[in-house]
Amino acid sequence: MVDFKHMVYVQEKAQYEPIDEVDKNLTILNISGTELRRRLAEGLDIPDWFSFPNVVAELRRTRPAKSKQGFTVFFTGLSGSGKSTIANAVMVKMMEMGGRPVTLLDGDVVRKNLSSELGFSKEHRDLNIRRIGYVASEITKNGGIAICAPIAPYTTTRRAVREDIESFGTFVEVHVSTSLEECERRDRKGLYKLAREGKIKEFTGISDPYEAPVKAELVVDTENVDVDNCAHQVILKLEQLGLIVG
Ligand code: ADX
Repeated sequence: MVDFKHMVYVQEKAQYEPIDEVDKNLTILNISGTELRRRLAEGLDIPDWFSFPNVVAELRRTRPAKSKQGFTVFFTGLSGSGKSTIANAVMVKMMEMGGRPVTLLDGDVVRKNLSSELGFSKEHRDLNIRRIGYVASEITKNGGIAICAPIAPYTTTRRAVREDIESFGTFVEVHVSTSLEECERRDRKGLYKLAREGKIKEFTGISDPYEAPVKAELVVDTENVDVDNCAHQVILKLEQLGLIVG
């Protein structure tokens, strides 16, 4: 049996040698498999001594950097918490950046179109969220940016959507944590009043549950911070995750 020697690049000689035969005074360069995957994911330099440029180009084509892959930003929060407003601001910033197509799946808009026959029972809400998740996963798979903004009150359903999407790209959950008191005080659509009067049944926060996320990638609160600032926090998070380049 001939054992396979671990080959490393010796800088001064510009050639590969078995690691146990390299002169101690010379510089050894090596890139592990994990490091190579990290560099591909983050679009970092892969030196010529490591691989042929044509091979690297092919690897980059099949494993594009995170900043070129699709992803989903999933806002969750009470009705009137500011999800749609922040989502819109984020969408505009993404479109200005260009590169990848951006799709907004807003709660109210989805309910008018994709989920027009659904009500607000747990089953129907779950179905609504799974549909949004499915569309977002297709967008993510095809290299686009999906921005979702439904209430999505149930943890298990949000987790299922996360799993669907994570097989194709990154899932970024943003909890818009504006309190019930504040949402009700604003009552932009007048629905909280109707819910208190019992004219709307199963209303989230009043007569239906909202399970706040415990592991969201980001929590923003529109009570003390304006929308632009919240949108900016989302953008910074996306940069930090390597999904966009600042
Ligand atoms: S979800 O629970 O299925 O995620 P979704 O975001 O699609 O909800 O729709 C929420 C919007 O529908 C609210 O912003 C509000 O305008 C409207 N709505 C009407 N009835 C209800 C209700 N019973 N509970 C919550 N929202 C309702």
